[in-house]
Order: sequence, then structure tokens, then C-alpha cells
Amino acid sequence: MKFNRRTHNCGELREKNAGEKVVLNGWVDNQRNLGGVIFIQMRDRYGVTQVVVEETDDKDLYAAAKGIRSEFVVSVEGTVRVRPSGSENRNMPTGMVDVVVSRLIVLNEAETPPFPIQEFVDVSEELRLKYRYLDLRRPSMQSNLILRHKVSQAARKYFDEQSFVEIETPILLKSTPEGARDFLVPSRLHKGKFYALPQSPQTYKQILMVSGFDRYFQIVKCFRDEDLRADRQYEFTQIDCEMSFVDTEDIYEMFEGLMKRLLMEIKGYDLKTPIPRLSFDEAMEKYGSDKPDLRFEMEMVTLNHVLGKCEFKVFKETLENNGVVTAITAKGFGSISRSQVDALTDFVKKLGAGGLAYIKVKEDGIDSPVAKFLSDEEKKNIVETAKASAGDLVLILSGAKNKILNIMGALRLEVAKRLNLISPDAQPALLWVTDFPLYEWDEDTKRYYAMHHPFTSPRIEDIPYMDSDPSKVKARAYDLVMNGNEIAGGSIRIHNPELQAKMFKVLGIADEEAKEKFGFLMNAFKFGAPPHGGIAFGLDRLVMLFAGKDSIRDVIAFPKTTSGLSLMDDSPTAVDDAQLKELGIKVRE
Ligand code: AMO
Repeated sequence: MKFNRRTHNCGELREKNAGEKVVLNGWVDNQRNLGGVIFIQMRDRYGVTQVVVEETDDKDLYAAAKGIRSEFVVSVEGTVRVRPSGSENRNMPTGMVDVVVSRLIVLNEAETPPFPIQEFVDVSEELRLKYRYLDLRRPSMQSNLILRHKVSQAARKYFDEQSFVEIETPILLKSTPEGARDFLVPSRLHKGKFYALPQSPQTYKQILMVSGFDRYFQIVKCFRDEDLRADRQYEFTQIDCEMSFVDTEDIYEMFEGLMKRLLMEIKGYDLKTPIPRLSFDEAMEKYGSDKPDLRFEMEMVTLNHVLGKCEFKVFKETLENNGVVTAITAKGFGSISRSQVDALTDFVKKLGAGGLAYIKVKEDGIDSPVAKFLSDEEKKNIVETAKASAGDLVLILSGAKNKILNIMGALRLEVAKRLNLISPDAQPALLWVTDFPLYEWDEDTKRYYAMHHPFTSPRIEDIPYMDSDPSKVKARAYDLVMNGNEIAGGSIRIHNPELQAKMFKVLGIADEEAKEKFGFLMNAFKFGAPPHGGIAFGLDRLVMLFAGKDSIRDVIAFPKTTSGLSLMDDSPTAVDDAQLKELGIKVRE
């Protein structure tokens, strides 16, 4: 079908174009036949323009326009006019004009879509994902992906200005340990052997430092076979970076610069730097999380010191067992009903707490089921420590330290949600979390694991503890947190082969195994490895936050469902026996 190249897109025409002859190409958003006159809203990714066909002008044209349905692809030629008074639409950028059609070509017809291509239609995510190409026609999805493009472009520009070099690393490689399961790819030529897809380019970017590319970045797909959630996909994108001759302060400065640039360019927000920092231990004590949401306060306080002589059994036992009694104050929540208290109690019980104690602070004292177990002084000290006043509610949990801090952290978020403490246009709250433990102990396998990854450097002053008490060693590792989401993580690396060998030893990785798995990296380090460190941002999470969405699926063109399915092409699928045979693979029942 012959059609003319568009002169304008569907979001472009204004009053100043009145009288111009134009060509528009696009999709039919909707067609309304008012008898004698047909209005067609034409859509492309730039916007929507109304075009008009009048019966009196051309009978054939009118008949053709009658047959037009939503989602047909059309090319229209006509003349721009200012809309007659009273029919303007000021909610639409092109709403002061329409195009009187002189030629209409249907470039392709369309079946009735399974859901209307509109914002705010109540349609399940399953259906949206099955027909993702239609879902992606919706303006909000288009703006999410365009926003993603802008974030990538702005990041690339920043890195280029800072002399970073973008270098691609392999997708088929030897497993990179980031704590998740690998996706494996069988080798046809080397039967029984497998490549892994990168969980991150970690080892390769470190090797690039050995090669002398002292500032590397890559916007790169990473693959992790882990449980999927709103902020996790099997394949996701990192803005991955590494720098040589740096310490933590250099990293903070460089990547605060990146965040400042992105927030200004994308959101017009002037980020104040330096970004505040909290150590991992402080974050856990005050917010019960290593990714605290600082858009609201409600800090947790420890009550251990005011309950030293407490006779209340629950608190007493906790203190005797070196546990923690921790509290938060929900400002103005003192009028909470019995059923609301029950709901919060259920919430913490589901997470593993024994129960929830609460105190309603009144003008003339307190109202609490545990009041009778507390002395007047204890009551006064609790209220003071929790900085509570009349009308407030103090919520108290007690038990084993790490577990209870985590549960209180979750309760803090839940209460904030119920009290609407986070305004939708709250300013972004960024935070570095620093000084993570280098190791995590796993009770099941009775061994230490690297909390970040095995290439992370211990704090120099803690190296002696690697032999005596690994749990005491802090890492030169940092996470960047925005609005309660971990948007980036990184560390200063070990660049000395002996220290790296010691690290593997504490992790219970025998020399042979270390050589087998990471020998290539250790070898590279023997040839002049500079001190280096880096960070990787989760691009999907960053864009999700910039777009104000709750799930990264909304900023990924073709995401998987939480059960790992691609509903559009039905993957994963079985493959031919012949294909398996060629790969030397037999599927076990
Ligand atoms: P880390 O494992 O912390 O560090 O990952 C960096 C960032 O990537 C994002 N992220 C994810 N996003 C979506 N889906 C996932 N499954 C997923 N997993 C991680 C997070 C996270 O902060 N090699 C190191 C970086 C380094 O040390 O330089 C690494 O990958 O936003």
C-alpha cells in the first residue's frame, strides 16, 4: 500500500499549524461515529491527535472511515484547523486543533484487542504480559521505557565525561559467585561441560583493572536463578562499574555525582551531597533493616537499659538471654482500635515474634495491657526513651536480637503504610549503608559465606580477626539505598593474592577448589594488580523508583512472571530430543 511519509507525529500539532496540509501515520485509539461526522483519535508514541471525516465532504472517504476500528494502522492526509469553539480539549496537548481528512489509507487491520489500550483499565498482569506488545502501546508503559532509555543515556554521558571506558564482557563464562544459582548453558563441542551466564561481570571487571583500564563501566544484563519478587528478575540490568587506585571515599564521591546528575536530569531534583551514611550495625539497631526507608523517621530505640530490674517475665527472660527489647513510637496512633492492634500482632507473629506489647500514651498516664507488670519508673523511662507524648502509641517487641530487630524493621514499614507516612511526592531519601560484616554464618552448612562476594576486602584493621573470630570482621563494602530499596552495592576488592587465599580459606574453599574456580583471577593478580574497587547499580530498580512504580516488571519491556514464565512466548519450553542429544544431555525424570 502506497502511503506518504508523515509530516508530523501524533503529539505535535498546535494552533500555529492551522491551515497546513499534513500527513499523520499511527494507530486508531478510537473511532466515534456521530452520524454525518466521524472522529478518529490517532495515536503514536508521541501523543494523540483527533482527525475528522465529514460525510458531506466525500462520501467514499466517509464510508471508509466508518469501517475503521480501534488499533487499525492508518495513514491520514488532511488540513489542520483550529477546533470550533466549545469542542477544544484542554487536557490534551493537541486538543486545540484537529485534522480535516482528505485521504485515508488503512495500512493494516487489527483484531479487537483483549483489553482496551488505555490507562487505568482493570486488566490482570497475566493478560498484560501475554499481550505485552499491546500493553506496551499504553502511554504509561511507553513513558516508563523512554525514562529507562533516558537514565541509561544520562549515565553513559556522565561516565564518558569522567573518562570511564564501556567494555563488554562475556555472557558465556565460568560461574561468578554472587550468592544465587547459576543459569547454565551446555557446551556442544565439549559435552558434559557448561558455561554459566554471568550473575555479574565481577571477575572480568577486576581483570580489566589488572589490564590497566582504570575506569570501566558497562550497562549489562546479569542472570540469577533466584526466587522472583517485585524487585527481582532472573535477568536484570546492572550499571556495572570498577575503578583503580581508589578507596571508599573516592567511590562515594564518584557515584554521588552520578546520582546527583540522574536525579537532576530525570526528576529535576537537586540532590544534596554528601549522601548520609549509616553503618550496617546502626541501620539494624535504628531501622531493623540494611536498606532503611528514611522518607519517614520512626526510629527504633532499645529499651534494655531502662528495663534492667524489670520483673515482667517476657522482658526479663529476653534480657537474661542477651536479647533485645526494642520500641517504635507511632505518632498520633494512640487511638488505635482493638482490631487494629490484633492485626499488627498477627503481622509480627507471622514473622516469628512471640507477641506485641503496646502502650497508649495519655495526658494522665498510660493505657497498656503490660502496665501492671511495670513500675512507675519503668513506664516513665519507656515513654521518655521512646520520645512518646500524649496521643502516641509505643509498640514493643522483645526476643533474640537479630530476629527481633528485623521484625521491628518490618513493623516500622507496616505502621508507616497504615499511617500514610510516606507522601507520594516525598523527596527521594538516599543513604549509604557501610561497614557490612564480611562474613555471614550459615547454621545449616556450619560455615561462613561472603556477605557481598569473596573478592571483597576486609577492613585493614580487622584482618587479624580473619583467623581468630571471622564474625568480627567488617568489610569495605557499601550499599546505596533509595526510599528503602537497595539500588546499588559494591566494595573495595582484595588485590593481594595472599589475602585472597586467606579469604578462600575462611570460606572453607580448599586451595584446589579455589584454583579450579578462581585460578584465572588469582593468576592475573600475580602480574601487577592495582588496588581497585567498584559498584553495580540495579538499573531496573533505579528506573522503577524514578517512575514511581512498585515493581521492576513495569520498567522492563518483556519481564518474566514471579514463577519465571514468559507468558508471551511460553518459555521455558521443552526441546527436541535431537537437540538434547547433540548437547549430550539426557533429562532426568
Ligand atoms: P549485587 O549483587 O549487590 O552486587 O548487585 C548489584 C545491584 O543489582 C541489583 N540486583 C537485582 N535487580 C533485579 N533483579 C535481581 N535479581 C537483582 N539482583 C541484584 C540490585 C543490587 O544492588 N558484582 C557486585 C557489584 C560489585 O561488587 O561491584 C554485584 O553484583 O540493585
